[in-house]
Amino acid sequence: MHTFQPFSIEDVEFNPFTKIGKEWALVSAGSKTKSNCMTVSWGGLGVMWRKNCVFIFIRDSRYTKQFLDAGDLFSVSFFDKSYRDALNYCGSHTGEGINKFEEAGLTAAYRHSIPYPDEANFVLLCKKLAAIPMDESTFTEKGLKEKFYSGDEEGNIHTMYVGEIIESMAR
Ligand SMILES: Cc1cc2nc3c(=O)[nH]c(=O)nc-3n(C[C@H](O)[C@H](O)[C@H](O)COP(=O)(O)O)c2cc1C
Repeated sequence: MHTFQPFSIEDVEFNPFTKIGKEWALVSAGSKTKSNCMTVSWGGLGVMWRKNCVFIFIRDSRYTKQFLDAGDLFSVSFFDKSYRDALNYCGSHTGEGINKFEEAGLTAAYRHSIPYPDEANFVLLCKKLAAIPMDESTFTEKGLKEKFYSGDEEGNIHTMYVGEIIESMAR
């Protein structure tokens, strides 16, 4: 078990464009009995309903979505560059029928019963506040539907999960 320190979210220096968009994050959800994780590179951190929040966008087809919908808690974790292969693995293999943490060379750890990868260096523990399916008819930029929701991805919409950051851990 690595030693994580609780870290005040107000002290975090975090560039969402590089951290999420370029370096990627791992979303983990489920329970000690069964959990799963997947890589994300879309999302954000900010404030909603007077709470410090994480926003992630998960397509219907992701197995992880079942865990996000079944429970109220999830984590979003960040790694140093040496875990790029693990993130690639978690972003290209479904966890259905396998232990994805193990297959990716990661160790599932738990805090407040929330799964997170022990190898991460920064973890946001989140309480789900809302799961909002995106409605294509609200897109004002018309090219989005053709670009992101056609062909194989037709109807495979994203749900925006708003998670209150209940604790952040760093090491
Ligand atoms: C770099 C990268 C970023 C990704 N970002 C997202 C994302 O933000 N939302 C999403 O729904 N899928 C995203 N994916 C795809 C999922 O990680 C991928 O489909 C994964 O295999 C789903 O696993 P699961 O079926 O076990 O949930 C991303 C994949 C990669 C490689």
